[in-house]
Amino acid sequence: MNPIILLLDDSKENLDVMQRMLKGLPGMESINSVIFSAGHEALVWCRENEPDICIVDYNMPGMNGIEFLVEVRKLPRFKGIPMVMVTGSSDSELRQLALVSGANDFVTRPVNPDDFKVRLCNLLTLRMSLVNPLGRVERLAHDVELLSRQTIEREHEQIIFKLSQLSTARDEETGNHMHRVAHIARLIAKQLGQDEQFCDMIYLAAPMHDIGKVGIPDKILLKPGKLSPEEWGIMKTHTTIGHEVLKDSSSSLLRMGADIAHSHHEKYNGQGYPRGLVGAKIPLVGRIVAVADELDALLSVRPYKQAWTLKDVLEQMRQERGRHFDPDCIDVMLRNIDAVLEIQKRFSDFSEMSLSNVRPLQRGIG
Ligand SMILES: [Fe+2]
Repeated sequence: MNPIILLLDDSKENLDVMQRMLKGLPGMESINSVIFSAGHEALVWCRENEPDICIVDYNMPGMNGIEFLVEVRKLPRFKGIPMVMVTGSSDSELRQLALVSGANDFVTRPVNPDDFKVRLCNLLTLRMSLVNPLGRVERLAHDVELLSRQTIEREHEQIIFKLSQLSTARDEETGNHMHRVAHIARLIAKQLGQDEQFCDMIYLAAPMHDIGKVGIPDKILLKPGKLSPEEWGIMKTHTTIGHEVLKDSSSSLLRMGADIAHSHHEKYNGQGYPRGLVGAKIPLVGRIVAVADELDALLSVRPYKQAWTLKDVLEQMRQERGRHFDPDCIDVMLRNIDAVLEIQKRFSDFSEMSLSNVRPLQRGIG
């Protein structure tokens, strides 16, 4: 809502000066001013309208500024409206009389523009926040809505991360893997130029990539050795199980989780599973999470392997550019490797998993 300022002065020159000063008041996008050169005309307007502040000259023919203040203060809606009196006199008795008659502030000519603007802003802020209850309610409603949305988003995030963690708890992957994959996926999405909503969604949906592991029997998921072809076939179904569980949700976030679960083991050259999709046929979310998941898996200690060196990891990812991975995803990941490593450091596993837990096994699933 734009504030309305009433200007009352018999001098056109003074009115022009005031109007110029009203332009560019800090924090006020737009000001509507109404101008009067005589007190009785201003009073007529005030009986039907309500400004947010009145700036009144003292020395005017006919009704002077103090007489105007006395009359306008009698109007019920004008009891809380700030009034500023402007005069060329510094007479302390006149100043006292103006304050007693209803002025809230007093400005002496020649008016200092900076001082005048600060005084006006203070009075207008007070008026808009306290006297205008509608504006205050609107602001409060906006603040409450923002706070509620942030709280709900934080709760969603916790629920998704905790549920997703259940899917990997049995095979000793750490909870921090979820956080790293989520952050790296968001980083890649952002660097690919995706909008903020997409980036926020992939951050929340990426941890669901292995949620289908809940349907894989312990004897396969936890097998301490190489899987037989039949067992490997069952292990691969964690992609379709995750997709089946999430795909029919009314939530677009869970449906994105379904796409990620389904496609995070597809390969750019069509050699992945479960559908053998090629290139852009693989959902973008799956191509992004494939890079984030594999990068983190290679850099991390797992029960069946040591962490690779950064040099070996980057070499491997480069070799798989255009084969396993979408070239664009690899390129932005490599260009932002410092930020990726910062995420790895921030969510390091070493507080959760010691090297003594490492078992010398060979497995190829993330
Ligand atoms: Fe997986």
